Amino acid sequence: MKDKVTTTVFQRLKSREKIAVLTAYDYLVAQLLDETGIDAVLVGDSVGMVFSGYHTTLSVTMDEMIYHTKAVRRGVKRALLIGDMPFMSYQASPEDAVANAGRFLQEAGAEAVKIEGGREMVETIGKLTQVGIPVMGHLGLTPQSIHQFGGYRIRGKSQEEAARLIQDAQAIEEAGCFSVVLEKIPSDLAREVTQQLKIPTIGIGAGPHCDGQVLVVHDMLGLFERFKPKFVRRYAQLAEEMRTAFRAYIQDVKRGKFPRQEESY
Ligand code: KIV
Repeated sequence: MKDKVTTTVFQRLKSREKIAVLTAYDYLVAQLLDETGIDAVLVGDSVGMVFSGYHTTLSVTMDEMIYHTKAVRRGVKRALLIGDMPFMSYQASPEDAVANAGRFLQEAGAEAVKIEGGREMVETIGKLTQVGIPVMGHLGLTPQSIHQFGGYRIRGKSQEEAARLIQDAQAIEEAGCFSVVLEKIPSDLAREVTQQLKIPTIGIGAGPHCDGQVLVVHDMLGLFERFKPKFVRRYAQLAEEMRTAFRAYIQDVKRGKFPRQEESY
């Protein structure tokens, strides 16, 4: 096993190699990711969509996130484990943020948390890092603000939006973030942010110039089929494989072909 990935190791990777991050929500997937050398596992609030079947991530609660992060913790030994702060667990006040982020570290064994937002989160990021909670930022398309933006369109396309995003990135780096996710922004803008920041940028739909990449594991495995953004590459077609397996099982049971005598006691 290679050395444990801490937030400092993660930051050092910026100048050395690309950083590979995937989400996980359960023990088994977490163990497979860790075994195969992933740098960080994010317990994303995307769990609400790909696991719980909610329409957006807004319904996800702290208790749900703690439950999933605990399961993932049992499977991860080497990778950095990051818990995603769900909607309204940090927006109302920095005090809420500290209490809820504390639960991720204390109850669930996460080593860092992720929060969405730019300059408006500076005070919160400062408080979290002051009490020893490492923070990953998240800029660009921030799914918890879906109703404010009215959709999942690309962000940072206009000059004004791009300039704001660069200022946000600088502000959250200064506030103490150890890394930042850049979601669904033009690749030229992602390159500029990546060049300007000392902390690693982790892209999702932000092109090839970021320091690392993240995908939702159900997307890259071809398990989640409700929609497929352009930036998702499917490395497997597991939904189709599962359907084939389920159909075969049902047929075997119906025809009395399973179980056989040698599969019985
Ligand atoms: O919730 C999530 O999985 C995320 C990643 C896609 C960055 O925020």
